[in-house]
Amino acid sequence: MDAFVIEGGTPLKGSLRVNGSKNAALPLMATALLTDEPVVLRNAPRLADIANMRRLLHELGCDESHDDEGVMRLHSVDPSGSHARYDIVRTMRASICVLGPMLAKRGEARVSMPGGCAIGERPVDLHLRGLEALGARVTLSAGDIHVATPPGGRLIGSHVFLGGAFGPTVLGTANVMSAATLAKGTTVIESAACEPEITDLAKLLTSMGAKIEGAGSPRITVHGVESLGGADHQVLPDRIEAGTYLIAAGITDGDLELTNCPLDALLALKDHLDRAGVCVEVIDDTDPLRATVRATRRNGLEPLTVTTHPHPGFPTDLQAQMMSLLTLASGNSVITERIFPERFLHVAELSRMGARLFRQGPTVVVSGVEKLVGAPVMASDLRASAGLILAGMAAEGTTTVRRVYHLDRGYERMERTLESVGAKIKRVDERELPMMD
Ligand code: EPZ
Repeated sequence: MDAFVIEGGTPLKGSLRVNGSKNAALPLMATALLTDEPVVLRNAPRLADIANMRRLLHELGCDESHDDEGVMRLHSVDPSGSHARYDIVRTMRASICVLGPMLAKRGEARVSMPGGCAIGERPVDLHLRGLEALGARVTLSAGDIHVATPPGGRLIGSHVFLGGAFGPTVLGTANVMSAATLAKGTTVIESAACEPEITDLAKLLTSMGAKIEGAGSPRITVHGVESLGGADHQVLPDRIEAGTYLIAAGITDGDLELTNCPLDALLALKDHLDRAGVCVEVIDDTDPLRATVRATRRNGLEPLTVTTHPHPGFPTDLQAQMMSLLTLASGNSVITERIFPERFLHVAELSRMGARLFRQGPTVVVSGVEKLVGAPVMASDLRASAGLILAGMAAEGTTTVRRVYHLDRGYERMERTLESVGAKIKRVDERELPMMD
């Protein structure tokens, strides 16, 4: 397994281009199952999760390729399969997003029940309730979810409420919206997720011939059609990768320009960074989802109250990175996690670096310190890993971050990206590191 070795204290300076979004690309890839024609996705990121989804789609009868320019070509040529096996699903719970498309087009689907992960239990009850509302017969057996269209072979449009205890579900909305495109009649999804990735998915489905209104709002209306065609789609830039690098500029007191930045999808972060003392200046927002911006720190860092919410609120996927920044603020910050209340595996690791953090349930008080000190730490989930790397770049001395395979799921060769703007970071084999005490 790989690790990163980071020498802290170097301000990041230079320009970075934001890659295509992992969380947009995964449901976009699943739309290939909705049509007999080819789907082309441009600016698709090169990540472990994307490679896993390609492997899954291949097993489900799709020809697939992903060239050096990031152009991905998908074509469902053998619709006879319908089983997403456990050994793929367990590595990536987002595999669940093949459920709705496969059900709608092939009449049935079997997807292994995704397990939990480091950030929480990750149930899929809302996905299943939504598909049942469209007439699907849902059974669970031996760890598999089995769904089938009603007699007659077609889903039936209906009114679906997709809100759960923690708000809307992003992939649940993707599943139900995708399945509804081929249903008989009209579907209204109430309490739909408003994330930009849902809007991007609706844009692709519409270009395939779907009839969708209200994507990006809490109420989405889908008028079912008989069939969908192929399409050629530009993947939305990754707002979480972009947000991670904006925070990196702030925590290292650097000066970073980002191009292809989905600023219009990051307004909550921009507001929080501004109040924390990190300025995000707009250089060019002709396309507000592919803007050029510049991030610099005004002076010291100010403490904040941060609570994660569904979009357009502050994103849970930037909570760990924001916590790293606020460990160096001049006062006490309060961070509350409303989406995944257990998403705090980075707290113990940041404390090893001298951060003063006090957790009470879904809330952490961050008492700012003068400096962080480098230490050996362990990555856990994708975004916690990113938070530890940000902290390592700001800390005094050397930080080693083990198990960076978590990071490779959502950031394309992050060490190379950070090195290109001055970070002292290198990827090593964990076996080269001294044993952790
Ligand atoms: C998507 O996961 C993202 N993943 C997550 O990003 C992100 O954290 C999450 O949305 C929230 O924004 C992808 O898009 C691949 P949810 P998703 O269903 O759709 C509960 C990353 O780091 N819930 O919106 O699986 C759930 O437990 C990843 O890139 C139910 O109760 O998340 C959570 O508390 C991590 N029942 C809340 O809803 C359900 O059926 C939001 O989950 C589904 C979800």
